[in-house]
Amino acid sequence: MNIRILIIAFAAFTIAACTNKTEQQPSNEESIMQTDKVSQTEKQQEGLSDSTHKELKVLLINGSPRKEGNTYLALMEAAKELEKNGIATELLQIGTQAMHGCTACNHCKKTNRCVFDDDLCNRAIDLMAECDAIIVGSPTYYGQPNGTLLSLMQRMCYAAPQVMQNKPAAAVAVCRRGGASAVYQTLLMPFQMLNMPIVTSQYWNIVYGRDEGEAALDAEGLQTMRTMADNMAWMLKRIHNGNPNYPERETERKVTNFIK
Ligand SMILES: Cc1cc2nc3c(=O)[nH]c(=O)nc-3n(C[C@H](O)[C@H](O)[C@H](O)COP(=O)(O)O)c2cc1C
Repeated sequence: MNIRILIIAFAAFTIAACTNKTEQQPSNEESIMQTDKVSQTEKQQEGLSDSTHKELKVLLINGSPRKEGNTYLALMEAAKELEKNGIATELLQIGTQAMHGCTACNHCKKTNRCVFDDDLCNRAIDLMAECDAIIVGSPTYYGQPNGTLLSLMQRMCYAAPQVMQNKPAAAVAVCRRGGASAVYQTLLMPFQMLNMPIVTSQYWNIVYGRDEGEAALDAEGLQTMRTMADNMAWMLKRIHNGNPNYPERETERKVTNFIK
């Protein structure tokens, strides 16, 4: 066998080996996709659902008795932006309806529903169960949120924390001049103890206006609403793009009263 045949054979072997290697070794991108496929399959085997194709929906609660006042305008600015992002919204108006306060009867601990069925509380719980996030808005009344909205929030959070947890939440405060930052903080308090990711914006979610419709003149406030909505849409899409992998939390809840 002469040397030329040996060289040709060696070259043919090297080319074949390289071709084979290229076919067998996926690019980085392909590897990631394959890993993803595997983990998706594993997740399906674990019985976890893939919610990629679910329609996402945000519950908006308007805590103002003025149906189409400034709080409504602020919430609608956020709603339009969410809808631009492909996210549906549902508005619950508190209006001028009377609202019970929590009577600490603990009926809801057995049923996950409020014992009072003649106001909006149980309706709000049902809507929250259908929705993936929540935005509550309130006018400022003496530096505080409207009492009817506070009663509703206290009762729905106490009765049905399981329909709230893991869902992104934002608060919006509207005022003529002052006190809105206290309203904003107060509205966020229940969400902060229900494992709900809080959605922020470029500024606190505050809009200014006194008479109905004046909020439309607050260009910065409205932009703050749009940014908050974009942030919420981004968060929702990240959570629901595949399996959300919610954190595993301790199942036994510790409740202490500083005595025992
Ligand atoms: C009872 C009451 C108390 C109010 N207290 C405040 C206040 O503390 N600070 C403020 O800036 N505006 C106050 N306002 C003005 C409202 O917050 C403001 O008009 C707001 O735009 C109302 O929102 P709405 O149109 O969504 O109802 C008060 C209004 C009412 C009716």
